Amino acid sequence: MLNQLKFESAPVVVTGGGQGIGRSTCEALAELGAHVIVVSKTEENVRETEKILGNMGASCEGHVTDVSDKSQVDALAAAVGAKHDRVKAVVNNAGTNFVKKLEELEEDDWHRIIGIDLSSVYYMCKAFLPMLRKADGGGSIVNVASTFGIIGHPEMPVYCAAKGGVLSLTRQLAVDYGRENIRVNGVCPGATLSPRVKNYIDSGMVDGSIVEELALLGRLAECDEIANVIAFLASDAASYVHGASIVVDGGQTVH
Ligand SMILES: NC(=O)c1ccc[n+]([C@@H]2O[C@H](COP(=O)([O-])OP(=O)(O)OC[C@H]3O[C@@H](n4cnc5c(N)ncnc54)[C@H](O)[C@@H]3O)[C@@H](O)[C@H]2O)c1
Repeated sequence: MLNQLKFESAPVVVTGGGQGIGRSTCEALAELGAHVIVVSKTEENVRETEKILGNMGASCEGHVTDVSDKSQVDALAAAVGAKHDRVKAVVNNAGTNFVKKLEELEEDDWHRIIGIDLSSVYYMCKAFLPMLRKADGGGSIVNVASTFGIIGHPEMPVYCAAKGGVLSLTRQLAVDYGRENIRVNGVCPGATLSPRVKNYIDSGMVDGSIVEELALLGRLAECDEIANVIAFLASDAASYVHGASIVVDGGQTVH
């Protein structure tokens, strides 16, 4: 099994790799020998992840791309394709939350969040499928959804709808692309201590102790605890996992 976890310099794309779960995923993949293609919308964060991976002695490249913009995703795919021809895996991790009850939610915000959390997955999959098809031993797509794609949460209509959409799209793509040996899976993290979530807690917007109580393990996840599962699904070690969405929530949703 350990050998199947190794990427042997195969290129793997990670969106939202500039911080949080995405950066930890880049680190996990780098440890496993992938050539990590770090994609994020903020230049500073992309460079910082590149630096961290470089210090690990890993092979990587950074791209500043807003994945909610189809033309930017197509330009990214063209740049990656010109250099690599094939990619082993795509991790669609970029995403963000938005808290507002439906009656107060403006149409622009609805479309913006759907663009970041859901349309980006469509753009990325469409642009990278030709390169995933050529992957040695089969390609893999890992979509990062959320427990809030499975259960409701107060005042998060657009986030819950988008993440539910990601889970449904994951299943559907598994139906269409399994026969081409492209595995498609999802991950549903529970509350995880990324910089964004730390900020919510530190600013008092979220009561960290309530979130801790919800998880049966009594704490929030560290980013690498989510990243480990993403990296496993991206690798050949998960060769018979297809169309699944793995809940990684410390037991939040079983009670
Ligand atoms: N942290 C949690 O508690 C939690 C729980 C469930 C699901 N998730 C999901 O995990 C993923 C990562 O979350 P996180 O908490 O690490 O977030 P984060 O905000 O800490 O990091 C997200 C990264 O994605 C980048 N990004 C955002 N929008 C982008 C865009 N349009 N194009 C390119 N890059 C973009 C950001 O610049 C940042 O580097 C998200 O999809 C999120 O919905 C997180």
